[in-house]
Amino acid sequence: MGNRSSPVAGIILAAGKGVRMKSDLPKVLHLLGGEPLISHVKTVCKKLPLEKIVVVVNFQAAEIKKILGEEVKYVEQKEPLGTGHAVLSTRPFFEDFTGDLMVVYGDAPFLKAETLQRLLEEHRNCGNVATLLTAFLPSPSGYGRIVRNARGEVERIVEEMDAPPEEKAIKEVNSGVYCFRASSVFEALAEIKPENRSGEYYLTDVIEIINQRGWRVGTVKTDDSLEITGINTRKELAQAEKMLRERILENLIEEGVTVVDPSTTFIGVEVKAGKDTVISPFTILEGETIIGENCKIGPYTHICDSRIGDRVEIIHSVIFGSRIEEEAKIGPYTHLRPGTIIHKQVRVGNFVEVKKSTIGKGSRISHLSYLGDTTVGELVNIGAGTITCNFDGFKKHPTVIENGAFIGSGTILIAPVKVGKNAITGAGAVIPKGKNVPADSVVVGMPAKILKYKNKKKLSKS
Ligand code: UD1
Ligand code: CA
Repeated sequence: MGNRSSPVAGIILAAGKGVRMKSDLPKVLHLLGGEPLISHVKTVCKKLPLEKIVVVVNFQAAEIKKILGEEVKYVEQKEPLGTGHAVLSTRPFFEDFTGDLMVVYGDAPFLKAETLQRLLEEHRNCGNVATLLTAFLPSPSGYGRIVRNARGEVERIVEEMDAPPEEKAIKEVNSGVYCFRASSVFEALAEIKPENRSGEYYLTDVIEIINQRGWRVGTVKTDDSLEITGINTRKELAQAEKMLRERILENLIEEGVTVVDPSTTFIGVEVKAGKDTVISPFTILEGETIIGENCKIGPYTHICDSRIGDRVEIIHSVIFGSRIEEEAKIGPYTHLRPGTIIHKQVRVGNFVEVKKSTIGKGSRISHLSYLGDTTVGELVNIGAGTITCNFDGFKKHPTVIENGAFIGSGTILIAPVKVGKNAITGAGAVIPKGKNVPADSVVVGMPAKILKYKNKKKLSKS
């Protein structure tokens, strides 16, 4: 009998041919919101107290293993003979297992952990042998239908292909998420036969067998029809993408973010943003990006895997793998590359590229500069056109610019190089490799020399 302390394991089915996708790529590796379908499923399973997760894979196992890694176990289903056969192929993993199994399909990316948890609790509290997650869909086509008897108890599941019209009319569908008592389900599965239109061993047939044995079957319903969506075709994938985007935007808006134009704003599943932040049109936020409160992001901004503090303004810019602290102003046309840290109140402006550098509080890099592998102190001014030559063709070298330094326009810093506190470099200065410009000093470059007179005409002395 299942109870609270008995163990639960997860099974994810991912060995189907996915023929309806018309693709060489396994169906469960198609991307939704930038992540393979099966990663969405694994992520939700990881939130449950499952003592292990077994993924059923086919001959394309290697590709799935590359994505899911060592966090789960794998079993190969040599031939895709149906979902029932797929679950049966995990039996060797569960020979001495006395707990429950949660079975999910790898093509159902919208499942929520709360719902799976609710399913598991119902299953245990009622001492069921099988508990199904079901939903009522206005247009249930494509899903297995839940056939109930006069007392409202589940009798069996019928696949659409095999259903007579009166059963096709049933609007309650099988989500493809189940809890089973492990020992009983394997016993019952041994009895299913491929006697249906597609000639497959259906997992769904196990419900009727469990009933025939007089074992308890229960259901849990979800009101969220999107949650149970299983993706079979590219059309469904495209629709799911749209739904996912809408849902992400809705969640952000609900949490107090203004999205000026949802139709041109693309936001990844893991992105978070604080209240009163305004996201302007044509903006893409991806990966593990966290944005603070009261920020102004966009228009035309692409941010990936970055952390942005409160009250930051970013316009027309591209930011990857960077951290930006409060009240910084970025753009237009700034490119921040991975490993960059922008401290408070920094201003990085037009056509500036910064790579793997730290910019201290209140410093400014307002125009046309490249800083790579550079540490800039506080209240530094970097003049227009300043370039760090961080790469000598073989290795990258660091540049250090200390607090309060003033770097004149067009300064070339050949790394490794250091400019001391409050030092000033003149416009166009070339600071050679290894140079240590002393604190409080002024260094100037060679002014341009007159080489010859044009047309031999004497110019007035300047
Ligand atoms: C299945 C259910 C249906 C339910 C729907 C929910 C069955 C027979 N039908 O139909 O009742 O409403 O899901 O989305 O279960 N797979 C294997 N090995 C196989 C066959 C499939 O691992 O031999 C995997 C697939 O990779 C997929 C999952 O099982 O992830 C479901 O298979 P799919 O063919 O998509 O089932 P549906 O026809 O959608
Ligand atoms: Ca499916």
